Amino acid sequence: MADRKFKTKMKIIFLLSTLSGALPVRRRPHCHACFNGMCHSRSTVFTAHKFSGQLAVDRTANILYFHYQTNRSIDHTGSFDLNDIKFKVLPKIGFTFGRAVDQSTREVFMSGTVGIHKYNPKTNTVKSIGLTDKTIWHLQYKDKIYYSEFKSKGIFTYEKNKIKSIKALSNFHVDDFVIDKQNDIYFLSDSMIYRLKNGTKTADFFIDEIFSLATDKKGDVHFIQPGSRTVYILDYSKDSLTELGAIGKGTPFSVVFDADNNMIYHDVDDEKLYYLMPNYSLCTVTTRGKGKNVKKFVSMRNE
Ligand SMILES: *[C@@H]1O[C@H](CO)[C@@H](O)[C@H](O)[C@H]1NC(C)=O
Ligand SMILES: *[C@@H]1O[C@H](CO)[C@@H](O)[C@H](O)[C@H]1NC(C)=O
Ligand SMILES: *[C@@H]1O[C@H](CO)[C@@H](O)[C@H](O)[C@H]1NC(C)=O
Repeated sequence: MADRKFKTKMKIIFLLSTLSGALPVRRRPHCHACFNGMCHSRSTVFTAHKFSGQLAVDRTANILYFHYQTNRSIDHTGSFDLNDIKFKVLPKIGFTFGRAVDQSTREVFMSGTVGIHKYNPKTNTVKSIGLTDKTIWHLQYKDKIYYSEFKSKGIFTYEKNKIKSIKALSNFHVDDFVIDKQNDIYFLSDSMIYRLKNGTKTADFFIDEIFSLATDKKGDVHFIQPGSRTVYILDYSKDSLTELGAIGKGTPFSVVFDADNNMIYHDVDDEKLYYLMPNYSLCTVTTRGKGKNVKKFVSMRNE
């Protein structure tokens, strides 16, 4: 126990030193990601034996929520305050998978092995809000709860204790989904991305690729290719994907954006959560490999 506390403290000190940039020691040049031709440096938010499920951010207080397993396979749901650099284990809840924040109330919705739980950060309490006969897979919150069920089809909404199925999606096995600023739903099904436009009755094929999906602070949808590490953004004026840039190493997976619209992601290679901050040096992205083995690399640009 004391050991774990110590480790947490060390991590916090590390994050503090990297985030504040106050570290007097000169480190090797770093340009971990390149977005719009601009270097982004990464810092470790948290290291665990294993992470699973979604990441979520309360953008009012800038708190990140995640599930992790300790060295001894003990499940915890944790939070990390990105402003105050404070780590906390949520009470009375171990394993959670889906996570979503109601940005207006700061409440965090989480799916456990069954049901949905609500965490109130103001009172530091967790309570069940129902669906206890269901195993929820992914959660999103946009004016209400949206969820998909583990190993079943469709996306549902849950509001005032009432479940509604989104009819257009009832035949899709949904692996990941987001709701963007236009209330369009993008989802991954059978390794392809589909889109259900707000107010329409059928979902259309969007692109034949596996992406991890994320919406940023503005509600703009991002597509992250874990294998190649490329990040695309939807150009809403042209309705097509534009390459924003890439992360230079690892395998980025669940991605979220914080209150400053900085990217946080889970790297499945080294089981760390990383935080990317613009560093304002110029950079370039290079491509190596072919087909499914394409990888992106990032380097500083020497003027
Ligand atoms: C960004 O990173 C590069 C490489 O480490 C460094 O040379 C440069 O000074 C950094 N710029 C800022 C604004 O921190
Ligand atoms: C994990 O546990 C093993 C043995 O149980 C120990 O040797 C190792 O140092 C631990 N690693 C961490 C990161 O705590
Ligand atoms: C979704 O569509 C409805 C009408 O079809 C519209 O009133 C609403 O503003 C749209 N939502 C968003 C977020 O664009």
